[in-house]
Amino acid sequence: SDEALKQLIQNAKTELGNDLFIPGHHYQKDDVIAFADARGDSLELARKSAETPAKHIVFCGVHFMAETADILTDDDQNVYLPDMRAGCSMADMANIDQTEIAWDRLTDMLGDTILPMTYVNSTAAIKAFVGKHGGATTTSSNCESMMTWALTQKERIMFLPDQHLGRNTAYNLGIPLEQMAVWDPILETLIFEGDLDDIKVILWKGHCSVHENFTVHNVESVRAEHPDMTIIVHPECKREVVALSDDAGSTRHIIQTIENAPAGSAWAIGTEMNLVKRLIDENPDKHIISLNPHMCPCLTMNRIDLPHLAWCLDSLRQGEPINPITVDETTSEQATMALERMLKR
Ligand code: 13P
Ligand code: SF4
Repeated sequence: SDEALKQLIQNAKTELGNDLFIPGHHYQKDDVIAFADARGDSLELARKSAETPAKHIVFCGVHFMAETADILTDDDQNVYLPDMRAGCSMADMANIDQTEIAWDRLTDMLGDTILPMTYVNSTAAIKAFVGKHGGATTTSSNCESMMTWALTQKERIMFLPDQHLGRNTAYNLGIPLEQMAVWDPILETLIFEGDLDDIKVILWKGHCSVHENFTVHNVESVRAEHPDMTIIVHPECKREVVALSDDAGSTRHIIQTIENAPAGSAWAIGTEMNLVKRLIDENPDKHIISLNPHMCPCLTMNRIDLPHLAWCLDSLRQGEPINPITVDETTSEQATMALERMLKR
């Protein structure tokens, strides 16, 4: 039963004490997040993982976050993912072979004018590639400042793997859509009409399968049915959805905006379902709905559940841990360069 699993988790937490740290991403289910030692978005959890002295880090989030934690922690600290199937469809849209091919082709076309950047929602191998070529990682909450920095380093950037975060951020920085190209990793083609010299941003053709579910139709329906509502979305949503919304920002920005909003205010939120539900529960004085009435859970975030968390913690308690996440030394060193360029800013 759930009660027995909760007891097992609590016992393991008590027994492991300060040796254990459980970071929990905001998109985790309520019953899992209840056991997190820290809640946060990608950036906050990366920073907290880098700082914790705990020997065991059980990451309640997805695979790329656990990899990042492993990269940022010391050799005598170990990171575990309660369910190895907790991946990220966006991170899977850019593999290292595709990235090397893209880089060769693009640098043939454009010479040594490109700096690679990657959203932290990417594999360790992609972060290492970016680090090796002088670039940096970014998250949704620091993307404008990271992109501004990147454009002081080289004439143009290649942004992996989320075209929407890249496009929305570049647009906010005043870069016209006409100066943004798209690299299609399946067709191995650059999609761009115009003079190649004009390209400022090359967007990798990847997306988040959760945030792509918010549509222009959803925005129009909310405007028609709830004209008093303010619409706030995550920048992983498509450009046209962001353009029609009232506000767009990272997970942290959305949470802070809702928490600071006056009682009685009304909101339609375009982000992951577990978070929207929690915001509804924790802000009973505000009227909050999901921008998409069919609510969009992140299926891979949801892989982390009570049975997997209990299994993972119990294996640690028994001294036979399951599901360690280990990034090899070279990848880790190169990825660290990309992450540090972000974390020190
Ligand atoms: P942030 O936590 O950076 O907002 O990222 C959202 C997300 O999709 C995490 O997988
Ligand atoms: Fe990946 Fe999107 Fe899920 Fe985040 S919400 S883990 S980007 S699929």
